[in-house]
Amino acid sequence: MTTRLVHTRDELRGAMANRSGEVGVVMTMGALHDGHRELIKVARRRCDVIVVTVFLNPLQFAPNEDLSRYPKTLDADVALSAEEDVDLVFAPSVEEVYPAGEPQVRVHAGPLGDVLEGASRPGHFDGVLTVVAKLLHLTSPDVAYFGQKDAQQLLLISRMADDLNFPVEVVSVPTVRDADGLALSSRNGYLTEADHVVALTLSRALRAGAERAADGADAVRRAARAVLDAEPGVGLDYLALVETSGLTEVPDGTTGPALLAVAARVGTTRLIDNATVDLGGR
Ligand code: PAJ
Repeated sequence: MTTRLVHTRDELRGAMANRSGEVGVVMTMGALHDGHRELIKVARRRCDVIVVTVFLNPLQFAPNEDLSRYPKTLDADVALSAEEDVDLVFAPSVEEVYPAGEPQVRVHAGPLGDVLEGASRPGHFDGVLTVVAKLLHLTSPDVAYFGQKDAQQLLLISRMADDLNFPVEVVSVPTVRDADGLALSSRNGYLTEADHVVALTLSRALRAGAERAADGADAVRRAARAVLDAEPGVGLDYLALVETSGLTEVPDGTTGPALLAVAARVGTTRLIDNATVDLGGR
């Protein structure tokens, strides 16, 4: 089977018209890596038709962010997609997605979009949800796959699908890491070798926190914090231990699952990572 690359909505519609069976979509901003590959593999196991979208969405970047230096590797992205038996790669231009310029009407993320990533990146999740809504309408999938790596994004997309009755099943895929524990990201390419070593502190902090899960929320926060504080190269943005569906800080003494999330600047690169921890009552 060959992977077809299409750029316009008309081409996409034409290419989808003669396909049948369950359709799965994997949305990306390109610069595909083994994290994206895993989403495609999980989709491939279940779905008959796989669509990968490659679109660097300007709406979700603030003016001071890394839109202009974000890596663009469409040929390699199509090659990776072909290796994984993807049926269609939809790589539209900005004009194709936003023909009338910036959309006047947008999806608003609400309060869950104002905390954690949203506190540091105001408007980010409105931009994400608006483009995800558009791409869901354009690709009409039965199933859409998103990574746990971007836990808040995943939660908001699931909420959007539920709250606004999008006819799609949202499936979560666990975070893929390199052998050292660093969560794979298209942004890791910005890291120098020295930055890479510093960046490992994030996943190390999450593991240190998770190891104290039986001792409760404060112990988890303290253990993770100690690891981050010991590395001067880490410019911590936030470390949070929050309830998994409401994203509010969990008080000490809470039991059950919680999300331990971290964001930090390493060199010129902003990185995020998270882990789910199962808080005990000890
Ligand atoms: P991007 O950062 O390219 O990520 C595309 C998808 O791959 C997201 O669902 C993300 O969570 C997942 N992903 C990235 N790194 C991963 C890893 N190491 N392990 C598992 N999954 C990983 O997220 C976006 O693009 C955009 O915001 C998008 C949803 C496409 C909207 O523009």
